[in-house]
Amino acid sequence: MAIMEHTVNIPAREAGSYKISIGTGILDSLWAKIEADFAGCNKFVVTDENLVSAGHLGRLLGRCEVPTYIISPAGEPSKSIDTLISIIETMEKAYLGRDTIVVGLGGGTVGDIAGFAASTFKRGVPVVHIPTTTVAQADSAIGGKTGVDSTMSKNAFGAFWHPAAVYIDVAALATLDERQYRAGLVESVKHAVIADSDYFAFIEENIEAILARDNAVLEKIADCNCRIKGGVVETDPNEQNMRRMLNYGHTIGHAVESASGYELLHGEAVAIGIIGAGLIEIEVGLAKDGRLDRIRQILEKLGVPLELPQDLTENKLIDLIKRDKKAVNRWPKFVLTSRIGQVYCPNDQWAVDVERPIVGKVLRKLL
Ligand SMILES: NC(=O)c1ccc[n+]([C@@H]2O[C@H](COP(=O)([O-])OP(=O)(O)OC[C@H]3O[C@@H](n4cnc5c(N)ncnc54)[C@H](O)[C@@H]3O)[C@@H](O)[C@H]2O)c1
Ligand SMILES: [Zn+2]
Repeated sequence: MAIMEHTVNIPAREAGSYKISIGTGILDSLWAKIEADFAGCNKFVVTDENLVSAGHLGRLLGRCEVPTYIISPAGEPSKSIDTLISIIETMEKAYLGRDTIVVGLGGGTVGDIAGFAASTFKRGVPVVHIPTTTVAQADSAIGGKTGVDSTMSKNAFGAFWHPAAVYIDVAALATLDERQYRAGLVESVKHAVIADSDYFAFIEENIEAILARDNAVLEKIADCNCRIKGGVVETDPNEQNMRRMLNYGHTIGHAVESASGYELLHGEAVAIGIIGAGLIEIEVGLAKDGRLDRIRQILEKLGVPLELPQDLTENKLIDLIKRDKKAVNRWPKFVLTSRIGQVYCPNDQWAVDVERPIVGKVLRKLL
């Protein structure tokens, strides 16, 4: 069924490791595999209304009758404690116990909620992810971060809860909205920039096929993403040190995302953040090779906006950067690269100090 498999080893976890299977069209025969891989367990599916209307839930379950929670409306506003309570209570009403596996079918919203519900239901049951967006396939399904938002901030409630398995069907991306599809690919560009220059060259050479959603190319992209993110997560499952490299482009990116009132999609804001990181690298003398031009070209071809929304000011962004959740004494460290495929990591520090005036200068260039 799957043509590629990765194993992510999480030694701290009871089961020790999990498999990521990647293929095209695997959704149609996946339920039998899940039943076989997790025989003897009850299954509970969490998905959202768009996965139902796009036909993906039907493709997964066929004629099998499985208790299912359909999140409605789809998307971030439903990533709440209310939805979590509703899911847990639906599981209770279905007489499910600790022998249950939660199966999350959908994007990062579904995955984060399904994973968090699994982590809390009767003190924790396994979760299986079937990611269906470019964000989820590259990022959220791998890594074990789960959670829901409070009324004040994103992911205010959450837990590390590594999945028992991940199944990636790149053909599921065919129905994803174009803007979501493109924005989510920014995380793939990020992986290439921080970890693999060959992967970066592959994206450069295949950008048209990527935009045309060519399944063979998307499988290769998924393969590279899982190898890179899986590798980092294995080394640092709970984000103590090395995992911080995944934050490349995210320090300015998060500030931009928040300042836009979440009008910009996460990937769009991270694209601006990646340009910001590249400009910082130039300012601090880390970028004599002109790599920012190559990165900018890919992001332009993805068609994500690279200019900041007009009403933003340097002060507003600096204020938001000071509130970064990783900030110490109100100023975060920044992840920078020393070349394409390599994070700048002096003294085993994956994020480094950058003085505020330099960040201010870069923000003015972005404005
Ligand atoms: N846990 C992590 O490590 C991590 C990493 C990145 C992002 N996230 C979280 O992920 C969320 C964003 O995820 P997302 O970008 O995947 O958005 P999403 O899950 O909200 O999906 C975007 C939209 O696409 C729809 N959709 C999903 N798959 C589809 C498909 N195949 N065809 C048609 N429509 C489809 C959804 O219903 C939704 O309307 C955020 O809450 C973010 O915080 C978590
Ligand atoms: Zn991100």
